[in-house]
Amino acid sequence: MMERTGVKARRRSLSAFCLCLAAVLLLVPYGALAGKPPASAIATAHPLATEAGFEVLAAGGNAFDAAVAVTAALAVVEPSGSGLGGGGFWLLHRAMDDFQVMLDGRETAPAAAHRDLYLDEHGGVIPGLSIDGPLAAGIPGTPAAVVHLANRYGRLPLSVSLAPAIRLASQGFPVNEGYRRMARFRLSVLRNSPAAATIFLDEGKVPEVGFRIRQPQLAEVLRALAEKGHAGFYEGKIAQRLVEGVRRAGGIWTLADLKNYRAVERVPIRGRFGDVTIVSAAPPSSGGIALLTMLNILEQFQWGELDSVSRIHLMVEAMRRAYRDRAQYLGDPDFTQIPVRRLTSLDYAAGLAASIRLDRATPSASLPGVEKGGGHGMDTTHFSILDREGNRVAATLSINYPFGSGFVPPGTGVLLNDEMDDFSIKPGVPNVYGLIGAEANAIAPGKRPLSSMTPTFLESRRGIAILGTPGGSRIISMVMLAVQGYVAGEPPEVWVSRPRFHHQYLPDQIQFEPGALTNRERSRLRDMGHTLEPLERPYGNMQAILWDIPGKRVLAASDPRGEGSAGIR
Ligand code: DON
Repeated sequence: MMERTGVKARRRSLSAFCLCLAAVLLLVPYGALAGKPPASAIATAHPLATEAGFEVLAAGGNAFDAAVAVTAALAVVEPSGSGLGGGGFWLLHRAMDDFQVMLDGRETAPAAAHRDLYLDEHGGVIPGLSIDGPLAAGIPGTPAAVVHLANRYGRLPLSVSLAPAIRLASQGFPVNEGYRRMARFRLSVLRNSPAAATIFLDEGKVPEVGFRIRQPQLAEVLRALAEKGHAGFYEGKIAQRLVEGVRRAGGIWTLADLKNYRAVERVPIRGRFGDVTIVSAAPPSSGGIALLTMLNILEQFQWGELDSVSRIHLMVEAMRRAYRDRAQYLGDPDFTQIPVRRLTSLDYAAGLAASIRLDRATPSASLPGVEKGGGHGMDTTHFSILDREGNRVAATLSINYPFGSGFVPPGTGVLLNDEMDDFSIKPGVPNVYGLIGAEANAIAPGKRPLSSMTPTFLESRRGIAILGTPGGSRIISMVMLAVQGYVAGEPPEVWVSRPRFHHQYLPDQIQFEPGALTNRERSRLRDMGHTLEPLERPYGNMQAILWDIPGKRVLAASDPRGEGSAGIR
């Protein structure tokens, strides 16, 4: 009897132990249990930026120092995509204590901005005003974010982590094909700004491949950041030149706008898809919420039993509904109440899924409208970093359109963004990516325009993925497709290269890259009532890393559509 009780007690304590262990395993992020990665990895849109990151890791920096180096290097060598005159989101994971945060360095609207800034006296949109020239520029956030990242999370002084970018800016870098394509696209706007034309063009023309772009003034700004931190950009001589240049050319910035700018730390959006934990961008990006809405909708269906056409159809229907909600509900969380918990809940997704028919497209016009009342894809940039301690950075940065507003305030070398176009400049009027919006994303002083940038971590027993991409409105659907690749056990090389399709509610069409849909899939989708819009050009420039924990290896890949590079060391 005694013995039996002893056995029972032992069994009980064993099962209690197992329960505790299971609970701990569920709570602890996968990386924490896996120890340290066997290598570091960096994937960026430019080989010189990837190299800048590795240089800073070799100097004793961590992933956050490397992120400072890469951000600044991209600002120099990929000026069409991001820069000190722009903003972005840096999703961070600190291995020491599994702390995760999103650093929000999104641009803000100047204090003199107002909801009708880009409308004429009859309420019509003035073409180009939110896209070209200084009135299109929000107050930049990237310099503030870089300083915050280095001071709060890095190990090295800015003088070390900014050194590669300062060198690249003063010695110059060779023009590549991607640069030429973007410069050709924005040629007339760049010509309108004499300071921009001097830096980015060769005697008013698109420079040839190999032509060296030198940016001594930008080097000076980077040195000021290294020496004086935040004040080096947002106060003093450089701030004065920025404001003078903007105002002289018709813009509305003030010194107070710059002085008041702060990067903000935000709690990332978190959710589950099967056994995968998704960690992604929080508002003022729509990325994390829309990504989870899509995945939650897909979770309502028996995926394993579906053929390829039904899967594409369901993904499209999930995209349609998530992009509709984006237009209706999302904006800067400091200005707008966003029902985050509802939008990311499985119950809510079940409601959305209930309106999906397996055999028919839902016309977007039949969904509740977005209340009035309130081809690109290589501009903007994403990079992913993993260091040997397990720290991670997924960062998507932007100046919006290729070469942003095309405007450089004289004497600064800083190319300004045109992120103001990401606001809903008039309810129901699409922005440059065809996205519409409502009250939640109307312009207001100090407000951050809604973004689609979706830097993301995926965590499960398969390993840890770090990924993201540029591509305007199509960013979120690209990341969703990459999640499917991760879940299917494919390597990052496949996620970044597979042809893509996209739907964004309005226009009501499936846009797809060459090779994304077979003839049979196309004709069956058409039969179901979908409108198909083949794209001539590929889109996106995804940079992804997988720490394959069971395989004890690190993989990294750079989208073959771009000219970036991924390294493992
Ligand atoms: O924040 C956003 O959503 C946009 N400004 C991103 C623009 C972009 O990705 C352009 N690249 N193709």
